[in-house]
Amino acid sequence: DDAADLKSRPPVITIMGHVDHGKTSLLDAIRDAKVTAGEAGGITQHIGAYQVTTDNGSVLSFLDTPGHAAFTSMRSRGAQVTDIVVLVVAADDAVMPQTVEAINHAKAANVPMIVAINKIDRPAANPTKVRTDLLQHEVVVEQMSGDVQDVEVSAITGQGLDQLLEAIALQAEILELKANPDRNAEGAVIEAKLDVGRGPVATVLVQNGTLKLGDIFVVGEQYGKVRALINDKGERIKEAGPSVPCEVLGLNGTPEAGDVLNVVETDAQAREIAEYRANL
Ligand code: GTP
Ligand code: NA
Ligand code: MG
Repeated sequence: DDAADLKSRPPVITIMGHVDHGKTSLLDAIRDAKVTAGEAGGITQHIGAYQVTTDNGSVLSFLDTPGHAAFTSMRSRGAQVTDIVVLVVAADDAVMPQTVEAINHAKAANVPMIVAINKIDRPAANPTKVRTDLLQHEVVVEQMSGDVQDVEVSAITGQGLDQLLEAIALQAEILELKANPDRNAEGAVIEAKLDVGRGPVATVLVQNGTLKLGDIFVVGEQYGKVRALINDKGERIKEAGPSVPCEVLGLNGTPEAGDVLNVVETDAQAREIAEYRANL
């Protein structure tokens, strides 16, 4: 893309951290929603994708990830589509195995990190232990004279949420994120499933260009034509621009999380590319 075609795009922020440290609750609090309440056993099974508009009008795209150890590969994909990682560490539990794993993913992907020290409302909260634990993994937070922003928060009381959003906005500004909304869409599959009523459904994060109804695309070994686009609020939309997460209907089969989606010109092209990949 020519520099002149590039326009600012919202940052994509992935929430990572150990199981039950409060990732989904924090996102719920930011979105003022109740996702955790709908989860089986309170355990996140998939990557949720949401857009939030802050009080001062900036748009942020969030990806929630599961903390359970079985979801390692899913978390590593999160690190590849994200601009910023928010590492959630419970102040009453400190650094745990999936915290370390998330740090490693963020470092490997060279993605800046912000530390949210959550559950600060708990009587047993010990934010100093979190900060010193992090030092052992070469994460030096601002409170320890380092350059990683750290914010004490509570998903329950709402303490520190504004500061967390400010920290994200500051980091995003430094990154100067841009994309060209006026080209064929390119995106990444966040999750995909075969829905009994709707057929194959993929949650796609558009990374460049704009995905539109009727677009012909190839995604991994699958292809299709966009029959419907649904945003994070369940509303049908006509198009999705850079950094917008959406559900895509109209696939011939179910792609895999991490697959790349590309809009192409013709059905024949889409089918040919998909079949070529399937036979590799
Ligand atoms: P997984 O997706 O399963 O890894 O968990 P998670 O990190 O998304 O944590 P979740 O939001 O499911 O919260 C786990 C538990 O901690 C729930 O019972 C929440 O109510 C509680 N919790 C989360 N944040 C806070 C907080 O700031 N303070 C207190 N007191 N409890 C919290
Ligand atoms: Na949980
Ligand atoms: Mg969760």
